[in-house]
Amino acid sequence: MNIKPCIGIIGAGRVGSETANKILQNRLADCILFDTSTGLAQARALDLSHSVPISNSPVKISAADSYSALKKCNIIVITAGLPRKEGMSRDDLFNVNLEIVKEIGIQINRHAADAVVIVVTNPLDTMSYALWRFTGLPPGQIIGMAGELDSSRFRYYVSVAADVDPGNVDTMVLGSHGDLMIPLISHTYIRSLPVRSILSEDTIHSISEQTRNAGGEIVKLSGNGSGYYAAASCIVEMIDCIINDKKKILCCSVKTSGDYGLDKVYIGLPVVIGKNGVEKIIQLKLPEEESIMLRNAAQHLIAMQVKTDKLLEHT
Ligand code: 2OP
Repeated sequence: MNIKPCIGIIGAGRVGSETANKILQNRLADCILFDTSTGLAQARALDLSHSVPISNSPVKISAADSYSALKKCNIIVITAGLPRKEGMSRDDLFNVNLEIVKEIGIQINRHAADAVVIVVTNPLDTMSYALWRFTGLPPGQIIGMAGELDSSRFRYYVSVAADVDPGNVDTMVLGSHGDLMIPLISHTYIRSLPVRSILSEDTIHSISEQTRNAGGEIVKLSGNGSGYYAAASCIVEMIDCIINDKKKILCCSVKTSGDYGLDKVYIGLPVVIGKNGVEKIIQLKLPEEESIMLRNAAQHLIAMQVKTDKLLEHT
């Protein structure tokens, strides 16, 4: 008999509750919401449950009063933490979100140490590293969600610029989930045509910048928090890969062990995702320019990791 998968979502804000909604609509797994803000997870779980008679989804959504309820979960998604306000970089959230992730790490160790963990809290790559440090879990079990979001945004902008269906655009965005993200032009295709044969260098440059600024643009436009629909879609794509052991190649923040010449850094790379989390890091042959950009992103992330380690020494 198959045991029904169960997803724990820590943080019932907009990303967390939209993720639960998509899990419910896609009939993927039962879902437990947890939030330290009193009543929030309960309110969201109730609201989502009220939609079940219409969707006829077999998914059960509940709220947990304590972290111990997460022991049933095969996958934990961490969306807890402060979002950006206009003018802030993701790195500006470091201090406050590190404390939140630390507490969550302790609780995951206590109650759900076998779960695959998807980190969404910003600054994404550093929080993924911090969670790995706090839990000491095998690094393949801790995956940062951002490369798929950045890739989806870049695909969208390429499709608009080329006036083609976004489904025809294949690309990857690697590096950090921040200003140093790298839309891989060398690996961007419209069907099988290299993007450079369709779009001008100026257009490619401008949509790469648009992709880097996309999250910030949403924060600015909304005046009230960051985007969540696209992020939730990407989280659900990762969940689907894990629970159905799909072994898709996705761009995720993962810990390197010499891959791309980088050691012990959480950074966005193409990986195979299956039932155990990260199954394998895919090594691409990158042109010199993109290799340099990847090394620059890694340098920045290593500096953030050193900052994390220093704070840990003092706690
Ligand atoms: C974004 O890029 C919130 O970092 C997230 O929208």
